[in-house]
Amino acid sequence: MKKYNFSAGPSKLDTTVIEKANQSIIEYEDKGLSILEISHRSQEYSDIMEKLKSNLRNLLSIPENYFILLLQGGATYQNSLIPHNFGKKSNIGCLVTGEWSKKTLQDFELINKTESTSVSHEEIEKFLMSDNSDAFKNLDHLHITSNETINGIQIRDFNNINHPSLFIDMSSDFGSYNFEWENISYIYSGAQKNMGIPGVTICVGKNEVLNNTVNPSYLDLKKLVENDSVYNTPPTFSVYVLYLVTEWMLNCGGIKYFEEKSISSSELIYRQLAEHGKHIILPVSEYARSRSNIVFNFNDPSLEEDFFKKAEEENILGIKGHRSVGGVRISLYNAINEEMIDYLNKFISRFFEKI
Ligand SMILES: Cc1ncc(COP(=O)(O)O)c(C=O)c1O
Repeated sequence: MKKYNFSAGPSKLDTTVIEKANQSIIEYEDKGLSILEISHRSQEYSDIMEKLKSNLRNLLSIPENYFILLLQGGATYQNSLIPHNFGKKSNIGCLVTGEWSKKTLQDFELINKTESTSVSHEEIEKFLMSDNSDAFKNLDHLHITSNETINGIQIRDFNNINHPSLFIDMSSDFGSYNFEWENISYIYSGAQKNMGIPGVTICVGKNEVLNNTVNPSYLDLKKLVENDSVYNTPPTFSVYVLYLVTEWMLNCGGIKYFEEKSISSSELIYRQLAEHGKHIILPVSEYARSRSNIVFNFNDPSLEEDFFKKAEEENILGIKGHRSVGGVRISLYNAINEEMIDYLNKFISRFFEKI
């Protein structure tokens, strides 16, 4: 039975990726082995890694002086890795825009004293359009969360943050639009939203930011980079699926294609929701609305359960808001296609017509 999966992650993968992964589980490229059995020290794995890194560079125009590192531990692990490497000899602070950046700050603070500035969704536009350098003038590095997956708040114009060294949690919008690398020192993203399955985190950083802070091995960023993502046993299958996703993305037309799709899909859903404005609240101010996670609440909370029930009956999955905030959350990652958007939009329209 066909399901329409709008989950916030792990999330929908394109069918061609699943089919290829499936074949490779049985036998990887006529090698007489399953992809699950291949050693991370084998030529086959090195080849996958090289092609993957080249695809990522190609997709995101990653400059030559940036390393690409694949790690375990999800984005949550980065909340330890980053302050251990950049909070001791230098000074990293946080811009707080929602639940995930709040969690990052809480973790950073357990390791080093951390300066922070909070900006609400209503203030984001003004903040980005004005000279905001004063807010971070004492910091060597500034951590931000580009897309607040729980709150549906997004910042894409990084160059309007007047700080020369940004560290960005791009967990839920990596791979969905192009950006300039000018003031970016480091970005990271778990693969399980736009880029694949859980188990691998993509990290891209400027070589110059690496320093000689001494840390235990898996917290030593320089050591992990020097060992080219195989310091210890990597999540080989998750890395392979990430590689397949990058191939699929390039075949579709690269980031430009996904950026255009993300703009048009999110506009269609927001427009549909706006038509039912007397029944719902779109809690995020227009400028800061996420294209990746659309959140809304019902004016009459009793309608919410009915909405979820009817959605489930029509095979629409994964649209409950995060347990910490409730409401509805529709996640529009790269593998969501036009047919799914159309199906969901028609469902929303039918639901509100009957109220
Ligand atoms: C923006 C953001 N940061 C961090 C995380 C935590 O990621 P992980 O589960 O990979 O540790 C998530 C998870 O959804 C997220 O959306």
